[in-house]
Amino acid sequence: MAEVAAVRVAFLGLGRMGAPMAAHVARAGHELTVWNRTPGRATDLVALGAREAANVADAVRDAEVVVTMLFGPDAVREVLGQVAEAVPAGGLVIDSSTVGPAVAHDLGKALRAKGIGFVDAPVAGSVQPAIDGTLGVLAGGSADDYATAEPLLRLWGDPARVRHLGPVGAGSAMKLVVNLTLGVAMGGVGEALRLAGDLGVDRTAALDVLAAGPLGTTVGTKRAMLDSGDFTPTGFSLDLMTKDLALALDAADGDLALTRAALAAAREATAAGHGSDDYAAIAGHIGYEGSADSI
Ligand SMILES: NC(=O)c1ccc[n+]([C@@H]2O[C@H](COP(=O)([O-])OP(=O)(O)OC[C@H]3O[C@@H](n4cnc5c(N)ncnc54)[C@H](OP(=O)(O)O)[C@@H]3O)[C@@H](O)[C@H]2O)c1
Repeated sequence: MAEVAAVRVAFLGLGRMGAPMAAHVARAGHELTVWNRTPGRATDLVALGAREAANVADAVRDAEVVVTMLFGPDAVREVLGQVAEAVPAGGLVIDSSTVGPAVAHDLGKALRAKGIGFVDAPVAGSVQPAIDGTLGVLAGGSADDYATAEPLLRLWGDPARVRHLGPVGAGSAMKLVVNLTLGVAMGGVGEALRLAGDLGVDRTAALDVLAAGPLGTTVGTKRAMLDSGDFTPTGFSLDLMTKDLALALDAADGDLALTRAALAAAREATAAGHGSDDYAAIAGHIGYEGSADSI
């Protein structure tokens, strides 16, 4: 990897994805300050040399680049509102959360008005690629802002899959396109398993055959959960997938019937108690728990 000049980075949001992403920043020798709404998540990062800030303003006051990796639009709006008041002008914000293009546009505009650059850079891939530094990165922003962001994006992204897709919002648009396919595919696996059950097809045999078909990646990556019916440990939570399917529906000009059905299934699975489980619980709920009459 090419030598990257040390930068003062503030990383906000140390959830399943944010913590391992921030660790790459520390290991690369940058001056890292971290903050998480719920304290106590920074122990490993402090051991890597990071400073844990008590609040957002304290985290960003000296930062050249601020990275946010938060749940979704409400959290990012709330936190970036505080960032805009505290970060030095001339800084850059990289938001890697999944928020959709309309929110990214709003955030970019509000930050630009304060003299702060903005790149939306949501990621493709889950916790293990975040740990390995092999995520896909889908970025939107001006050429200058992207040039500043890219060396950091490459710390958690696979360099061959770090893509500058266009102006602010372009990365967030692509991310919704990608996550729509994940949600709809998981709903499809659930219905296939439900039909298998109705027809007396052995579940293990059905999963073996599906694993070799067009939904093979979906089945393969979640096979242990689909076999056991236990949708933990969570990688990408059902709560997050529910947010993303709703964002995709909101962003579309017309109806997306399959996405709407997948969202309804996600909400049913949430009502059945699976919100904090892995999003593979969509397939489990439809396939094994019966009711998915909204599909
Ligand atoms: N997990 C994946 O596989 C995956 C893959 C690609 C993209 N993503 C996207 O990456 C983002 C983070 O995902 P994740 O899996 O890391 O989520 P997560 O583990 O649920 O973490 C969410 C983070 O957001 C913080 N947060 C939530 N509401 C907040 C608020 N109002 N103010 C401040 N902080 C708030 C949480 O803080 P607390 O600790 O205080 O709750 C936590 O740090 C999401 O946008 C998700 O869609 C996730």
